Parts: sequence; structure tokens; C-alpha cells
Amino acid sequence: MLKIIFISTAVFCAFGFQPIPKPKNQLERGKLIYNSNCLVCHMENGAGVPRMTSSLIKSPYVLGTKKKLVEIVLLGSDAFVNEPNRNYKNLMAPLDNLTDQEVADVLTYIRKNFGNNAIGFAAVEVKQVRAKL
Ligand code: HEC
Repeated sequence: MLKIIFISTAVFCAFGFQPIPKPKNQLERGKLIYNSNCLVCHMENGAGVPRMTSSLIKSPYVLGTKKKLVEIVLLGSDAFVNEPNRNYKNLMAPLDNLTDQEVADVLTYIRKNFGNNAIGFAAVEVKQVRAKL
């Protein structure tokens, strides 16, 4: 009996405490990153909050140039200093703690969700923009 308990404990320790593997699919990874870094302001459906946080649905920035989109994530609201008519009461903090891969994953996710359909990102494209900031 003891032997069985010992063996099952050993098996559980070996296989039961494995860290949850990262999803291999870029969109699944992007969704996890969105949920923990963006959802709190941009909401689960990407609609933001009127007058507080801009919407990501059919946003010209989400669908626009990759360079500007990476700058928005890495600089936050500072990416909009030269843009008129930005009247959001909330501020977006720079999220430059995210890795190139994480930024590529989350931007691919928002470009292909919330009714958007634009080409995705590779980490190297984020790296190039980050190097020039
Ligand atoms: C603290 C709240 C907050 C968080 C967290 C946040 N944002 Fe934002 N985001 C904003 C606000 C506010 C604006 C509008 C900024 C402005 O105009 O100055 C904005 C603007 C944007 C825009 C421009 C959209 C448009 O059309 O105006 C994009 C794209 C964007 N955020 C993506 C992201 C992504 C991706 C994340 C997560 C990696 C994220 N944001 C996290 C608050 C936030």
C-alpha cells in the first residue's frame, strides 16, 4: 500500500507540476497577452470606453502602418503627441516591458480580431521599430 502511495506521489510530482506550456499558435498567445496587458482598458471586445479609451474595432491605427502600431505599444500615449483631436481622458502607459515576440503576438491578435482583418507581425519587425525609438 505504502509503495503504491509512494509511486503515485512520485509520478504526480514528476508530471503534475509541469508549468502550463505556452500555446504554439500565435493568435492564442496574443490573446493571453491581450487579456493580461490590454483588456483592462480596451475591454474584452476591443471597444474601449467612450471618451476614456479608444476603440480597436476597425481602428485606422490597428489597420494602418506596422511602424505606428508598434510605437503605440512601446510609447503609449506619447505616440500621439503630434496628432490632433485625441480627446481620451485615460492615458496609455508605455508597454515596452513586452518582448519583441510578445508585441508581435498581441498586435497580430488585435489585427485579426474585433472585426479587423490585417496582415500579422513577426518579432523581427517589432525589433526594427524598437531599435529606432
Ligand atoms: C491604461 C490603459 C491602457 C492599456 C493597459 C492599454 N491601452 Fe491602448 N490606449 C489607451 C488609451 C487611453 C488610448 C488613446 C491614447 C491617446 O489618444 O492618447 C489607447 C490607444 C491605443 C491604440 C490606438 C487606437 C486608436 O484608434 O485610437 C492602440 C492600437 C492601442 N491602444 C493598443 C493597445 C494594446 C495592444 C495594448 C496592450 C498591449 C494596450 N493598448 C494597452 C489605454 C490603454
